[in-house]
Amino acid sequence: MKLSICAIASEVVPLAKTGGLADVASALSRQLTAGGHDVRLFVPFYSQIRRDRLQAARVESLQGLAIITGSHEYRVDVWKAKLPGSSTPVYLVESDALFARTRLYTGDPDEHRRFLVLTRAALECCRRMNFRPHIVHSHDWHTAFAPLWLRSNYKNDPVFANTRSVLTIHNIGYQGEFSAADAGDLDLGADAYLLHQDDLRAGRVNALKNGILHADAVTTVSPTYAREITTPQFGMGMETALAARGKAVRGILNGVDYEEWDPRRDKYLPIHFSAADLPRKAELKRNFLLRQNLKPTQGRVPLLGIVSRLASQKGFDLLTESLPRLLKNHDLRLAVVGTGDAQYEKFFAGLAEKHRGRAWFFAGYDEALAHWIEGASDVFLMPSLYEPCGLNQMYSLRYGTIPVVRRTGGLADSVTHFDPTTGEGTGIVFNDFDTSAMDWALDTAMQWFVQPDLWQKIVLNAMRCDFSWETQANEYLKLFAELLQVDAAALIERNTAQKAAG
Ligand code: ADP
Ligand code: GLC
Repeated sequence: MKLSICAIASEVVPLAKTGGLADVASALSRQLTAGGHDVRLFVPFYSQIRRDRLQAARVESLQGLAIITGSHEYRVDVWKAKLPGSSTPVYLVESDALFARTRLYTGDPDEHRRFLVLTRAALECCRRMNFRPHIVHSHDWHTAFAPLWLRSNYKNDPVFANTRSVLTIHNIGYQGEFSAADAGDLDLGADAYLLHQDDLRAGRVNALKNGILHADAVTTVSPTYAREITTPQFGMGMETALAARGKAVRGILNGVDYEEWDPRRDKYLPIHFSAADLPRKAELKRNFLLRQNLKPTQGRVPLLGIVSRLASQKGFDLLTESLPRLLKNHDLRLAVVGTGDAQYEKFFAGLAEKHRGRAWFFAGYDEALAHWIEGASDVFLMPSLYEPCGLNQMYSLRYGTIPVVRRTGGLADSVTHFDPTTGEGTGIVFNDFDTSAMDWALDTAMQWFVQPDLWQKIVLNAMRCDFSWETQANEYLKLFAELLQVDAAALIERNTAQKAAG
């Protein structure tokens, strides 16, 4: 059986990206397309998207669509392109009034309306194209109103007669809350009773919560995070809504796009390596240190790397305590690329200044540098406070760059603590979110690194891990099959047969 899937996301690589959502929206869509399914992906045509690099064409039947949100009316033009390097069609929703801003996400008063229009436009496009999706797949709060609209404004529309909705939560920390005074923007008419009523009385509308309540299935991006968010500690106010959905909530670990992240043929790196050729990784490290004016290392001195949004979610409150001590007590090199909270930018800039030649910081977003750090480092630091899935620790594993992570969310599901007695494990995993646990993990990394045989064992274990999308996309297909009450094997077989064919 061939599935028709309408996926709606606020970012997608390589067109527009601020984090892992963009990687996932792209890789999952491409994987399902390669499996023979008809996936149509809808994203905003942000002014930041490089139009010269994209062969996009206007879809004639989708020009000047009127999208009404309460008292506001927007005209959108829809363009179509291929997701670069694939045959997945991406529909770009253009509205200068909404998507020509200095950043992808803003704190502007109409922020919720920008994404209501995206979501509404995607559903309207399905109607106009007579595209009858089996699945409408929303990602995060931005597109979380699709399930509710399918139960209200579109409930009698034949195009959606057999549609099931799925909401994937990539990060519960962002919920798209807006004032109840703007509830009219949803254009629900008599179906407004479907909105979470206690929230309305409290003067707010929460996009994510309404998605959780109305989606046929709710997924998040790792099994551990799926359990964590049902607790008040991690649920950020969504735990009751999630509990109400019971078994409709599940975790599917993200995959890695190994076309993009492979040390044997990484297009950003001048030197390639594999598990059979580790001296070349050491060569890449030397090359990187030289390029960034970091002192060359003699003997076993590790390079520690970080690639991250600089947000408290990522555990920087531990690192601001532990890294200065570590740099004082050990010989090591540190390379950080990241952008975000000013306090952390300031911290890393200060560290690089103080330890010039040993610590290095690039404040910004840079795809090539991200690959360099993954490839050249010995150790990757990701001690997150919470982590729905996390991709960088999985990239690190493939590059033999040993992750130091906290046991939470997808980090717990993808990295196992190395046990020197059995020789099993792929990284260094600590439990408590406090500096003594962080110090312990960093000291362990330093102690293990100076033992070449032991370190090599961890590196080889890490490089063998396989988190490919081929496997993970099948987990989504199993879920879709359950929702549609069809045989999962038939969907997955199609997936496998198509890929084998082409
Ligand atoms: P999150 O989505 O929470 O930021 P993930 O680990 O899932 O975390 O994904 C982050 C993605 O963004 C990875 O692909 C990572 O390489 C990339 N990334 C984050 N910060 C930067 C940066 N400053 N420069 C380049 N890539 C970055
Ligand atoms: C979010 C999460 C991250 C996850 C990514 C993709 O941004 O913070 O853990 O890997 O989405 O699902």
